[in-house]
Amino acid sequence: MIRRAEVKDIFYIAKLEKKVFKNSLGESFLLQELTDNPYSFYFVLEQNKSIIGYIGFRVYDEQAEMMNFLIDPDFQNEGLGTKLLTFCLAELENKKVNLITLEVRKSNKKAQYVYEKFGFKLSHVRKKYYENEDGYVLVKEVKV
Ligand SMILES: CC(C)(COP(=O)(O)OP(=O)(O)OC[C@H]1O[C@@H](n2cnc3c(N)ncnc32)[C@H](O)[C@@H]1OP(=O)(O)O)[C@@H](O)C(=O)NCCC(=O)NCCS
Repeated sequence: MIRRAEVKDIFYIAKLEKKVFKNSLGESFLLQELTDNPYSFYFVLEQNKSIIGYIGFRVYDEQAEMMNFLIDPDFQNEGLGTKLLTFCLAELENKKVNLITLEVRKSNKKAQYVYEKFGFKLSHVRKKYYENEDGYVLVKEVKV
């Protein structure tokens, strides 16, 4: 099941982030996003009452910026990331978003493959965006 993220999910989202990235955006950051930030647009993917994926955007009028996107490593490569992104892109389309941007590590070929599948294209490179690694800024134009 895919649903909007709620405050009660924060602990589990942060735990998942640490499992995937070894660090987290932080529970206080997530709390602020979910309670105080009118632009935030976060979803979780739940299976058997456990959160196994999440995705977050900030939506500013017709533009959206991806904040994070991940699937529990135990459930990756099963099509769940594709399912979650498909759902959210439809939600963004409903909100009349016409441009979506995100950053991805140069080495993260799998995520790049997934984004390319959805029509994201390289906009520019941010040198050393991730400490010692370049980031690719990808954009997707949504036809509304
Ligand atoms: C990126 C991520 C969310 C994708 O979720 P997922 O559930 O694994 O994705 P899916 O199973 O829907 O699709 C994965 C696709 O990548 C392909 N793939 C797997 N490893 C790959 C690799 N090393 N290089 C290129 N493609 C790869 C799979 O074959 C699959 O292709 P298909 O859709 O044609 O079958 C997930 O892998 C993840 O959480 N990664 C770590 C966090 C991360 O990098 N987030 C993105 C930050 S910008």
